[in-house]
Order: sequence, then structure tokens, then C-alpha cells
Amino acid sequence: MAEPYLRMENIRKSFPGVQALKGITFDANQGEILALIGANGAGKSTLMNVLGGNVIPDEGKIVIGGCEVKINSPLDAAKNGVAFVHQEMAMLPTMSIVDTMFISTFPTNTSVIDYKTANERCGAVLKRLGCNFDPGTKIRNISPGSQQMVEIGRALLSDPKIIIFDEPTSSLTSREKEHLFEIINSLKQDGAVIIYISHMLDEVFQLCDRAMVLRNGETVGGGMIKDLTYDDIVKLMIGSKQIDSYFEYKQRPVGDPVLTVKKMCRKGVLDNISFTLCKGEVVGLWGLLGSGRTEVARALAGLDSIDSGEIQVCTNGHLHPVKQSEMKNSVGMVTENRREEGLLLPMSVKHNMSLANLWKLTRGFLPFIQSKLEQEQTQKYVDRLEIKVANHNQRVETLSGGNQQKVIIGRWLQKNPLIYIMDEPTRGLDVGAKADIRKIIAELAESGAAILVISSEIDEMMSVSDRYLVMNRGRIVAELSRDATKEKLMAAAAGAQ
Ligand SMILES: Nc1ncnc2c1ncn2[C@@H]1O[C@H](COP(=O)(O)OP(=O)(O)OP(=O)(O)O)[C@@H](O)[C@H]1O
Ligand SMILES: [Mg+2]
Repeated sequence: MAEPYLRMENIRKSFPGVQALKGITFDANQGEILALIGANGAGKSTLMNVLGGNVIPDEGKIVIGGCEVKINSPLDAAKNGVAFVHQEMAMLPTMSIVDTMFISTFPTNTSVIDYKTANERCGAVLKRLGCNFDPGTKIRNISPGSQQMVEIGRALLSDPKIIIFDEPTSSLTSREKEHLFEIINSLKQDGAVIIYISHMLDEVFQLCDRAMVLRNGETVGGGMIKDLTYDDIVKLMIGSKQIDSYFEYKQRPVGDPVLTVKKMCRKGVLDNISFTLCKGEVVGLWGLLGSGRTEVARALAGLDSIDSGEIQVCTNGHLHPVKQSEMKNSVGMVTENRREEGLLLPMSVKHNMSLANLWKLTRGFLPFIQSKLEQEQTQKYVDRLEIKVANHNQRVETLSGGNQQKVIIGRWLQKNPLIYIMDEPTRGLDVGAKADIRKIIAELAESGAAILVISSEIDEMMSVSDRYLVMNRGRIVAELSRDATKEKLMAAAAGAQ
């Protein structure tokens, strides 16, 4: 058999308080899609950051095409044919697509940027990705899915031999996802080495040839996908730890309304939105990407203004109209966009968790936080959500993607608001943590919270909800009971009458 094209050997990396990679060795072949799987914080992104030149390992060897290479920067990685599609996109909304794609590699013509060539190459890559944008379009004017396509386009520009995809599908529509899979398969046909990180095991079974599973910085197993089952992979991921991924929906008594929205409008985005949320109720807001679900959430959390309509919230047993600016007093919003709206990345885990709860933690004497109380509260939710942290003062930006998401959830659990809005609450979480969040949602409802859940994973949304609201083009087009079928929800979301 031919030599593997890529070999990473005995890769070790420690960060303060955690040994993220404990001597990992693996091979990857040309024309193969290798799935890299593991629980949140297992070390997947760190391992790939070593290959991509973003993290310098303490020890280890990288061999590409039979030669040992030193990768000390992303530029070194690019020179060795490695491209990286990152888990979290870092893009400036005001930049154009072409500037974003070429930010570090602009073609020059006697030291002047050659925009003609750049635009042509950018246009060609966009076309290959099935996007019809002008290269001059600003990032802020395209959807999150299209932004992800730009990130993928950036990786493909250099004609890489090894391409790393770190959870590339979380902001894609199902059509965009299918298209991405076609592209990945064509890269495979062309003989590229593809490394694919995902928590969506169905994607892994659909797309990948082989899997390697990491646990706590070590390789614990893997094999050809055709020889593995879903259960095999989950067992390898979590080891001897027992997860109870079984979630059983139980009907709860539903109380009085705690939130009513009447004819809420925002020009071009929300059209006459009216609905009610009751105490102890979980309502799933379903719709295709771009249908306006996130916009409803943002308006209710007071993040976007509305042009007309009324929002009423229950205080002292009665519904009262509230201004949007006051919504933050009663609403906890777990956001889908943790980088922009959720977290203060350079700040500690502890402070990020306290952020929504300062009034309680200062016992009203702002700005003096009762640090013992803060410690206790942080520990409680670090334990409850099994957040993998070295200590409470660790900067949030150094947590793994899934653990950052858990910090946002922990923040709102600590505050314990009347109304929760959860927009993609399990994005980036591993299978065990996803199951746990479903249980938490049920517990919150049991204790009397009203919860609006948005999720692009329809099964997840359906499993926890008491009823569903379906959106299409900024309007609520159907209200369905829990026993509605998936097909019915899909049809309503697609605009069927
Ligand atoms: N710059 C850093 N400083 C300190 N610790 C870090 C840093 N980068 C990663 N870590 C730690 O290394 C461990 C592995 O993180 P990594 O991001 O590789 O996990 P992951 O497998 O990609 O998880 P996820 O599925 O949640 O994205 C985590 O405990 C994380 O907190
Ligand atoms: Mg990661």
C-alpha cells in the first residue's frame, strides 16, 4: 500500500492546567475523508490547529508527502498545502467577499494589489461553491450560510492538498450542506486528504470513509466507517462514563400566559407576529434558515427594535405591556452566535457566567461582587453542565467551542429568568451534552419557566416542545400541536397552505 500522505506523530501540547494532546499519532491518505470525532474538549481543534500552524506543539513530528515538515505558522501550513476551514468564522462584516478571501494572500502586480485577478479567482471559487455573489459584496449583506461558503472558498483558493473542516455545517441550510458534501467528494476524487470534524454523526456516516476518535487528548480507537456503528462511536467518545441520552417527553400542566406578542412588525423582517407563551410551556419555533426565527428571538430579547406591535410580560400575576429595552429583565437569551452576542472572550469563565446575574451577586451593592457567592455559583453550573475548564479564571476564548456554548447556558441558568429564548442552544455540543440540554429544558419548564426553542435540528426541537409555531418569510404561518408530524412542519415551513 502507498505511504500515507500525512502522518502526525506523537503530538503533545499542554496549556496551563490541561494537557490537551497526550501524544497523538495518526495517518491520513489521499482520496480519503477522515472523520475526527470526540466529546467537547477532547482536543480535536487543538490537533488540527497544530497541523494548521495556529498552535505550536510541545513535541511531535509532521510528515507530509514523505518529508518531515515544520509548521510554525498558518503561512507554513499553506506552503505545505494545508488549508483550514475554521469552527468559528472570524470575519469583518464591513469587508467585501474578495477582501475576506484574499486577506493574507492578495495577488500583487509590482506591489500593487491586482484586483482584476483577485476578483476573477474569487468569482471562480464562488461559482464552484454554487454562490452567485459579486466578489465586491459586503460580508454583512450575505447570510451566515453564505459567509461559511466564503470561509470555505478562502480555503480552496490555494488548491490545497490537505483540507481540514472543523464543524463546517452548523450554519448551513440543508441544500447548502448537500452542496458542500458534493464539493468535499469532488476534492476527494481529486486526491486531497480531507479531515472532517463534526458532532453530527449522521453526517460522518454519510460522508466519511474512516473515523478516528479522541478522548481527553488521546486516540482511543476508530476504523473504517462501514465497520462502525453509531453506538461504537459514542462508546469510544465517552469511555466508561455513562450517559443517559434517553430523553422522555412528559406532558406538564401549562399555567397562565407569561408573554404575549401582538402584531409585532419590523419592516422587511417580521410581519404581524402574534403568539402567547405560558408558564411551564416549551414552544418550538420552526422555520427554514432565513424565515425570521432568529429575528423574533432578537426582537424579544430587545436586541433589535420593532416598528410596531406590543409585547406583554407577566408581573405580579398580570400581563403588562413592556418596552423592548425592559425585556432583558425577564428574558434569558441563549444565542446561536456566541462570538458576537454571547461571550466576552478575553474575560474569565467566572465573569462570563456572572454577567446576567450581577444584581444578585452584588446583593444590590454594585459594583461589589460577593466573590465567594460568585465562586459557588460558577462551580454549581460548571458541575451541572460538565464544563471542561482548568479553573474559573480561565479566559473563555481558550475553551473548546462546545464548552464556550455551555458557559452561555450556565449564565442564564444562574439568572433563572421567567422566559428563556434558546436559539440553537446545542450548536457545537457533543451528543452527551445535547441530551443533557434537552433534560435541562424539561426541568426548567417543570419549575415554571416559559421557553421558546429554536433549532435547525428538527428532531431536537420536536422532542422537547409542547407545541410548534412555524415561520415562513417573516410570518407565523402555522401553529401546530405536539402530535403534528415532521412532514407537516416541513410543509408549513416551505410555505404550503
Ligand atoms: N489557548 C488555549 N489555552 C488554554 N487552554 C486551551 C487553549 N486551547 C485549547 N485549550 C484547552 O484544550 C482542550 C481541548 O480543546 P479543543 O478546542 O481542542 O477541544 P475540541 O475537541 O475541539 O472540543 P469542541 O468539540 O468543544 O470544539 C480544552 O480543555 C481547552 O480548554
Ligand atoms: Mg473544537
